[in-house]
Amino acid sequence: MATKNTIILAAGKGTRMKSKLYKVLHRLCGKTMVDHVLTQVEKANMTNIVTVVGYGAEAVRDNLGGRTQYVVQEKQLGTGHAVLQAEGLLGNLDGVTMVVSGDTPLLTAQTFENLFTYHENKKAKATILTSEAPDPTGYGRIVRNDLGIVEKIVEQKDATTEEQAIHEINTGVYVFDNQALFEALHKINNNNAQGEYYLTDVIEVLKSQGETIAAYRMDDYDESMGVNDRVALARATKIMQARINRQHMQDGISMIDPERTYIDVDVKIGADTVIEPGVQLKGTTTIGNDCYIGANSEIRNSTIHDHVTVTSSLIQDSEMLDYSDIGPNSHLRPGAHIGKHVHLGNFVEVKKASIGEGTKVGHLTYVGNAKLGKNINVGCGVIFVNYDGAKKHETTVGDDAFIGSNANLIAPLEIADHSFIAAGSTINRPINKYDMAIARSRQTNKPGYYKKLPYQKD
Ligand code: UD1
Ligand code: CA
Repeated sequence: MATKNTIILAAGKGTRMKSKLYKVLHRLCGKTMVDHVLTQVEKANMTNIVTVVGYGAEAVRDNLGGRTQYVVQEKQLGTGHAVLQAEGLLGNLDGVTMVVSGDTPLLTAQTFENLFTYHENKKAKATILTSEAPDPTGYGRIVRNDLGIVEKIVEQKDATTEEQAIHEINTGVYVFDNQALFEALHKINNNNAQGEYYLTDVIEVLKSQGETIAAYRMDDYDESMGVNDRVALARATKIMQARINRQHMQDGISMIDPERTYIDVDVKIGADTVIEPGVQLKGTTTIGNDCYIGANSEIRNSTIHDHVTVTSSLIQDSEMLDYSDIGPNSHLRPGAHIGKHVHLGNFVEVKKASIGEGTKVGHLTYVGNAKLGKNINVGCGVIFVNYDGAKKHETTVGDDAFIGSNANLIAPLEIADHSFIAAGSTINRPINKYDMAIARSRQTNKPGYYKKLPYQKD
């Protein structure tokens, strides 16, 4: 059976990143570089996907999980040596094998498909994906003869001045006849400037055997860019962000300033939602239709339903139902579940708590470890005192309760529906339905006292 396989190279350390983190695990738009590559490879329907790991092998496995097979390259002796590690898994198969680096995160499944098709049409043994780089420094150059036929790839460090002037670069992606690839890999050596076994030398080997080599030149250099350092990472992030934002705008989302709007690749947004500048939508966040996400809000791994307004607030691992609103300057910490038509005003912090439909928490309030019913009014400066220094405790508040301003609710505590707490009360005993609780010292007035003050005025 003819198979279609991909080998992803991800064993290098990435010295040029100057990082504790291995290169392919650096992130852009919410995903590691190697995850972006794998995601696009998956879309192109492979029989086998093999990832070559070495430096940070465990971390790469943790990141990609069971979506790919793995082989280990113990020593990083070069890209050719890296591919050879997959011989045990793929060596005997008929068909074609694509090789792609884990550090070219912008390449798309469409480009991979085009490359496979080109390879097939040209009846080639190897097809190189190339592009025209404005600045080719650092890349391998495509050397063609007078007839325009590819002769070889030469690395920057091995290139003559003449070769360095070539702008057509090797993107690091190739499709090979599978068996020809592994046979040729046994014939390359490491006599070059870096003392490495270069995958690129396979081209010369096949060429010398009289095989057909093709080169598919893609139009968009940006898509092919390799990320070797942080400058390139920032550039790739910008390109990917522009791509993501353009798609959302085409799908009916308004962005006031798309260049200052930061949305991770897996975020979903409904039509007619408006997003102001400086917003960051991260991870698995989903935003519904007709929402307004105000300037500088950050929403991580959360679900926001329809017609929700978020004004300059931070939302983490939480959910907001239809027509609720929050902010400015409020914070939903993990486990906040906000019901329909709930109003959360400014400087409100909610953690591990559910708030029922129509309830209002207007100002300067902390709600932690609590269940609030419907249509409750929480006054200004209320504190759900949930922590005794050792443990967290829970508070429940029934529907239609009224909690006066500056109340302290000491958990564990049950406050029945239709009850009333007077402002300034510190409450630590249950309150029954229709009761009012007041727990503050009584006011005393001293008649005429003002006149005894040394600074009194008439
Ligand atoms: C490589 C190509 C170059 C091309 C460029 C495109 C070679 C010799 N050069 O250069 O022609 O223009 O990519 O971006 O192939 N890796 C391993 N094991 C190793 C060495 C590298 O797994 O022993 C992996 C790295 O993790 C990386 C990929 O292979 O994901 C490419 O290696 P890198 O060192 O970045 O190669 P470049 O110098 O960019
Ligand atoms: Ca590279």
